[in-house]
Amino acid sequence: MAARAKTILFGSAIAGSLYLAYLYATDTRASVHRWLVPPLLRAIFPDAEDAHHAGTTALKTLYDLGLHPRERDPTLVSDPSLAVEVFGTTLSNPIGISAGLDKHAEIPDALFALGPAVVEVGGCTPFPQEGNPRPRVFRVVGLDGMVNRYGLNSEGADAMARRLRERLRIFARAVGLSESEVLDGQAGVNPGSLAPGKLLAVQIAKNKRTDERDVYAIAADYVYCVRALARYADVLVVNVSSPNTPGLRDLQAVEPLTTLLTAVVDEARKTDRNTKPRVMVKVSPDEDEDTQMEGIVQAVCASGVDGVIVGNTTRRRTGVIPDGVKLTSREQQALMEEGGYSGPAMFDRTLDLVGRYRKMLDAQTLHSAGEADETAATSGEERARDPEQKVIFATGGITNGEQALRILNAGASIAMVYTGLTYGGSGTITRMKGEMKKAQTDV
Ligand SMILES: Cc1cc2nc3c(=O)[nH]c(=O)nc-3n(C[C@H](O)[C@H](O)[C@H](O)COP(=O)(O)O)c2cc1C
Repeated sequence: MAARAKTILFGSAIAGSLYLAYLYATDTRASVHRWLVPPLLRAIFPDAEDAHHAGTTALKTLYDLGLHPRERDPTLVSDPSLAVEVFGTTLSNPIGISAGLDKHAEIPDALFALGPAVVEVGGCTPFPQEGNPRPRVFRVVGLDGMVNRYGLNSEGADAMARRLRERLRIFARAVGLSESEVLDGQAGVNPGSLAPGKLLAVQIAKNKRTDERDVYAIAADYVYCVRALARYADVLVVNVSSPNTPGLRDLQAVEPLTTLLTAVVDEARKTDRNTKPRVMVKVSPDEDEDTQMEGIVQAVCASGVDGVIVGNTTRRRTGVIPDGVKLTSREQQALMEEGGYSGPAMFDRTLDLVGRYRKMLDAQTLHSAGEADETAATSGEERARDPEQKVIFATGGITNGEQALRILNAGASIAMVYTGLTYGGSGTITRMKGEMKKAQTDV
């Protein structure tokens, strides 16, 4: 009898410990996610791309088993003080994960579980392409930074569409609706994110082999992606700012950009769904002269694009090493690799660009509204509808809640992270949200 009681006690103790271990390990607040996992990944995988694949595969497997890290803090999951209004939808918070982390849309739900309201998958090209030869991702650990020249490795738009459709099918079956009914909003969720208060952004780009001087061929690449992917997206992001596809950034000049964005907006409006996906364009931090930015703003307003993602990796290397920081020769070599640099040193540049884009976009929107009013008045029509303010998402060097608040105060609606997440681990977004809440209550 005593032996049986002991066995039951022992079994219960083990089961209880396992349950506590499960609760701890799957909570984004657990310190192992910040202090153990990222350095361990760096130690096990000297090539940063291997670490990237290991991280996404682990998240996918854990998600499938129900053992993935998730935001368990009930005060953060849906805190009204963090909510923001974007494209007429109330989002649960103003944090996003930017493109490149989930290039093939394999883990959008595992990423949403980490707490952001926006997840951007991609960049995706119309046809599969391998990207640049490896090695093509380099860590600069002393700066919490990274250089990458992936070159938009993609499985192609059809493969991504199949994956997103399968995700939709599973969701529709679970709620007892058809796919079309879910897409038309009858499940009470956004058609891309498949969740209330969240948005799935799908980023599209051109194939490397498409002639970089032929804007109509380039527009056809983007339109192909829209046709394949628009049904599954809340937001389509037009990438014209990756530094690793020859000629891509030249598309930011006003004429080609207007042609390209108009083609994407027209195609997105044909999406077979009640609500159409919004369109944003992701612009480079290196095109930062007033004339270049004004050209972009002009193209945005002329084409009817809904917003701008301000920032990406940079080709420049000036000003990225703070005073007093000494890099090892390996880190110096990594920093000088060909490709785009990302890391906390980009923050001030992102903040400046967001403020300037905010002013320019608002001025141009007002100007366009004035012109529309005049036309309406002379033709005797009713007053033209007030145009919506263009939305800004910001990306580049954002790593904590205080920075996210400053970016939002400068005029962005969403602060996005990538490199900060790879160094800070899967609890980064929860930590940032906590810091934002604290800063708001401290005021
Ligand atoms: C390894 C890596 C891959 C990336 N891939 C893409 C991509 O496919 N498309 C894109 O627009 N940006 C891509 N980015 C840029 C990020 O989305 C982000 O805009 C940039 O890194 C700046 O933000 P951060 O300082 O938070 O990293 C990539 C960045 C890194 C580090």
